[in-house]
Amino acid sequence: MSQCKCENPLVPSVVTVLKIVEETSDIKTFHVSTKDGKKPFTPMPGQLGMFSLLTVGEGMFSVTAQGENHLEFAIKKCGMLTDALHEIKPGQMMGVRGPYGNGFPLDLCKGKDMLFIGGGIGLAPVRSLIKYCFEQREDFGKIDIIYGARSMNDLCFKEDLFENWPKERDTNVHVTVDSGDENCPCHIGFVPAFLEEINPNPQGKIVVLCGPPIMIKFCLQSLTKMGFTDEQVITTLEMRMKCGIGKCGRCSIGSKYVCLDGPVFTMAELKHLPNEF
Ligand code: FES
Repeated sequence: MSQCKCENPLVPSVVTVLKIVEETSDIKTFHVSTKDGKKPFTPMPGQLGMFSLLTVGEGMFSVTAQGENHLEFAIKKCGMLTDALHEIKPGQMMGVRGPYGNGFPLDLCKGKDMLFIGGGIGLAPVRSLIKYCFEQREDFGKIDIIYGARSMNDLCFKEDLFENWPKERDTNVHVTVDSGDENCPCHIGFVPAFLEEINPNPQGKIVVLCGPPIMIKFCLQSLTKMGFTDEQVITTLEMRMKCGIGKCGRCSIGSKYVCLDGPVFTMAELKHLPNEF
């Protein structure tokens, strides 16, 4: 009997956890690679991967970075699957399938100055595009990164924020925390107020914004006051996803499936969708 050659898109690749970085008390970054030492897939910045643990379940997470032979996913502890993922040790195996989603609109961003605004774990998807901009530095203008978290202990990707990114040319990294004492090495205050202090010029700029809904809401108000249009502002949505391939309908917003048409949308596009996100 001949064997079926069709590939089931729901079957994950088995990957090994190479390294785990403890970003904060509830966020870890997992570096994974296939058993033969390769990337399970090559995502574009902003694309997603579906992680699975046998007997526990599956969950969609953005790819925060990639190396020649590995992918990185930053995962916040917030439920049964993520609790189980946080128990994993280097050398253990899990499943991953992807890439899913549209990713960031690189053609819209190329040739522009970039303003990245992130809060908490919201820096994870944005980081994939920041890294891409540094790899393709000639294609982008000035880069500003504004990032905030509740406290110094809640900042993710500290090595990038304080060592790697500030060394890049034409790049400013602005870090703020909601609260801290007089020894705090960064700005103290909420991201939207910090954004207004920095007061970026909207001319020739694209904004990539990702973080808690309350931060997004107030940053959008500030950006509008400064003269940014909805077409200049991009965000990436977090929705509950199941299949990742447009079959189950779990991630639908109006006529769109976040797993296929998103997760990245401009604010102009989101304004045409029902407010279900
Ligand atoms: S996750 Fe199933 S349709 Fe999007």
